[in-house]
Amino acid sequence: MKKVRVAIIGIGAIAESTHLRYLLENESTEVVGLVDMDVIRAEAVAKKNGISHWFRTIEALLENVEVDAVFICTPNSTHIPIAKKAAEKGVHVFIEKPIGIQIEEVEEYIELARAKKVKTMVGMTHRFRREASILKSYIEQGAFGELYYVKAKLFRGRGTPKGWFTNKELSGGGALMDIGVHVLDLSWWLMGCPKVYAISGKTIGALGNYQTKYTNSWASKNSKLNVNHVFDVDDFSAGWIRFRNGAVLNVDVAWAINGEQDEAISIELFGDQGGAKLNPLTIYREENGIVTKTEPHFAKNDVFQDEINHFIDCLLENKEPLIDAEQGLDVLKMLLALYKSSDEEREIVF
Ligand SMILES: NC(=O)c1ccc[n+]([C@@H]2O[C@H](COP(=O)([O-])OP(=O)(O)OC[C@H]3O[C@@H](n4cnc5c(N)ncnc54)[C@H](O)[C@@H]3O)[C@@H](O)[C@H]2O)c1
Repeated sequence: MKKVRVAIIGIGAIAESTHLRYLLENESTEVVGLVDMDVIRAEAVAKKNGISHWFRTIEALLENVEVDAVFICTPNSTHIPIAKKAAEKGVHVFIEKPIGIQIEEVEEYIELARAKKVKTMVGMTHRFRREASILKSYIEQGAFGELYYVKAKLFRGRGTPKGWFTNKELSGGGALMDIGVHVLDLSWWLMGCPKVYAISGKTIGALGNYQTKYTNSWASKNSKLNVNHVFDVDDFSAGWIRFRNGAVLNVDVAWAINGEQDEAISIELFGDQGGAKLNPLTIYREENGIVTKTEPHFAKNDVFQDEINHFIDCLLENKEPLIDAEQGLDVLKMLLALYKSSDEEREIVF
């Protein structure tokens, strides 16, 4: 079988710990190059892993190495500019979440990718959680009837990431862009990707650059990207999305809050025939006229490994990825409408 020649653009915190690891483990791929604006880091990671090419820019990679696909793991604002360069050369694209930070840039990319017959997948990792796919199969079998209300939440106690994440120019937004994208995408996908009717949101930068002692949080591997510690984004966001089918989604996220920390995304779904929640996966049904509560048993999976292998399979078997660029754009439109609703203090009708 022909191997897929891949390169990683942005060999930072997430790429080194997951993308690189699983691409090296996948027998159908060959990692042919690493790119990072911090080329010293790219070189060090490449040498450590026996990869023979490293570059400072994607242009240098595309000029010097034959590559079938790139994994873009750079700060959010750079995703689409880099994806366009790959697509122009007919190279398939995996983009970390969120797909981009502006609607127009993503629309232009989608047109280009279509013209160049390039496949795109967005890294919506949580769709690959075993419990999420089990829950999705219950929903698709109609186990809960019509879903009319979904409540989703992810609060971190003191988990604001360090680095470019808090600088809007680089990230496009705060907690909502960074973790809200997962909460929103997972809920929306479970609901069957309904069309949006209207969106209302409130985004707040409440705790900002706190100085709390003895806390740990995610940190960018490139500390030069936000040297002045700019914090001009939300660390708490709440949203209310009404869909055309009549269903409603409530999303609450926080990077930092004076309250309980969630260990994972919690979602409650309510339908007219049953309901469910994630974490732990619990199913509520009426059987023989009696309300029942069951907790399915299953072995957990490695979501990043399954996500990355899925994209490689899509390339090898010419299949469409589970989360394509169009869905990435739909999710981005919802996120940006939540920000707009908050800024303009009104509901945004789609
Ligand atoms: N799917 C998930 O659950 C998940 C988890 C963490 C991060 N992410 C996403 O992954 C991306 C990277 O996050 P991270 O935490 O690894 O950040 P990071 O800052 O640690 O890594 C980004 C790397 O990109 C490099 N870089 C920046 N601009 C570049 C450019 N123009 N060209 C080449 N290299 C460039 C930086 O030097 C850095 O090494 C973000 O979009 C983030 O949202 C996704």
